[in-house]
Amino acid sequence: MLDIRHKPAHPLIAASILSADFARMGDECRDVLALGADLLHLDVMDGHFVPNLTMGPDMVRALRRAFPDVYLDVHLMVERPDAFVDAFADAGASLLSFHVEVCRPLREAGLDAGNVIAAIHARGLAAGLVVNPLTPVDALHAFEPVLADVELALVMSVNPGRSGQAFIPDVLNKARWLKARLRDDQRLEMDGGLKPTTAPAAVDAGVDVIVTASALFGSDDRAGVIRQLHAAGNA
Ligand code: DX5
Ligand code: ZN
Repeated sequence: MLDIRHKPAHPLIAASILSADFARMGDECRDVLALGADLLHLDVMDGHFVPNLTMGPDMVRALRRAFPDVYLDVHLMVERPDAFVDAFADAGASLLSFHVEVCRPLREAGLDAGNVIAAIHARGLAAGLVVNPLTPVDALHAFEPVLADVELALVMSVNPGRSGQAFIPDVLNKARWLKARLRDDQRLEMDGGLKPTTAPAAVDAGVDVIVTASALFGSDDRAGVIRQLHAAGNA
């Protein structure tokens, strides 16, 4: 199993299964993993934090059973991540990431980001903090103390909700700001609109985990896409 704390020699590719053919999910994952994708990225949406509904712990459980050694990166686009930690841990997730934008519903429940990170760690999983494109760097200052506790920071480069949207280059500044505050054993992930033409700028900004859904699963040359994304930092 991949060790997310280990600084990778090339950017890791997190294949986001949101653009896979759901009727052939096992084959789709087997295909991109055989071609060199480093981990699977699962987008969980609750219909509240984002308008869409996607998948839940049962998908994690099925993929864990099919791929016992594959790193399962679960991106929680939900208002109350604390309510789902145990279900996703039981299902076999490797990492749970949640959004800084849910701090208000958390606060109303008497919780903060540190409590959620601690709950994730208590189950032996890695934790990630996610930030949306419209959330300014200034808003991240409040999270600097807990940034030290996560294994990964994730910068959204589209507004969350669906795959296939255009990359928002403004987020590169936020990636640089975060990179300057992360240690070598912490990863910087980017998610949204990444493909061979947009990934090099992300990698230049410090990104070492590239999420890709439509550019990978929608391509008739998946091997070529993976090769180019792995080489995104070499230009
Ligand atoms: C968006 C999801 C992404 C999405 C990426 O809300 O978090 O992971 O699947 O899709 P692409 O790579 O097509 O932009
Ligand atoms: Zn995602």
